Amino acid sequence: MIIKKTIKSVQKYLNNKKPKLINKIAFIPTMGALHEGHLSLIKLAKERQYFIIVSIYVNPSQFDPNEDFSNYPRTLRTDLAKLKKLSVDLIFTPKIDDISKYTFKKMKYSTFGIENKLCGRFRPHHFPGVAEIVLKFLSILKPEVIYLGQKDYQQFFYLKRIIEQTNLPMKVKMGKTIRENSGLALSSRNKYLSKDDHEISVHLYKTLKETRLLIKNGLNLSSLLKKQKKKLLKIGFTKIDYLEVKRNDLKTSTKPHKKSRIFIAAHINDVRLIDNILI
Ligand code: PAF
Repeated sequence: MIIKKTIKSVQKYLNNKKPKLINKIAFIPTMGALHEGHLSLIKLAKERQYFIIVSIYVNPSQFDPNEDFSNYPRTLRTDLAKLKKLSVDLIFTPKIDDISKYTFKKMKYSTFGIENKLCGRFRPHHFPGVAEIVLKFLSILKPEVIYLGQKDYQQFFYLKRIIEQTNLPMKVKMGKTIRENSGLALSSRNKYLSKDDHEISVHLYKTLKETRLLIKNGLNLSSLLKKQKKKLLKIGFTKIDYLEVKRNDLKTSTKPHKKSRIFIAAHINDVRLIDNILI
């Protein structure tokens, strides 16, 4: 397993390596604090025998000013051990000074307004910040395939659209959400949950499944969503950013809500959790 810490060194390595590579390059961008969700993406890439590059970089530009950038879990040593176990080929762990020195902050990708919906309404810096860093990674590493997780469906769809719009020659693949036995979707931020908070958090997925069933049974959507939000607040969630149904292309979904998903973002005190399921 090779670890490269600077843009120059990773580019030099890849320039020498690429002509000799038989396998295509798959890229899995991460912010570290790796869990089975990340590892499942690596396993998907391994099944296809790609040369696998994983980046570990907590990207400051995708955090809003009041968010958890400085407290975001940083667990490099255990992350590297997990990646070694999976025989990942190359790890890229750049430093802020190297990769975030020049920014595209003024270049706002307006991908049909995807960046302003759902999470974008509550985290205005988030998607432009994600686009900035992922496009940088793609231009440095030039992979043929990039893998992203379904838990962050909006991010997956947003990046897929940007990659299409900018004609970057790579495929964007989605790996399914990995859940605890309780149903809670794995996330690096689950580390922040106390035992009591965890008990509350499992109702996120339960509510998504129940909502799906009730939508299929033909209940009125807007009153159903209102009722479900109230229920979550009663259970102990402190704030619901949204509980919405959108089509897979994130446009408004209409009955019978085919090719649509239920999206949720909810807070338990300082912890913000997101999830989504296909109807
Ligand atoms: O999903 C994430 O962990 C991040 O948004 C990503 C894609 C690694 C970009 O920083």
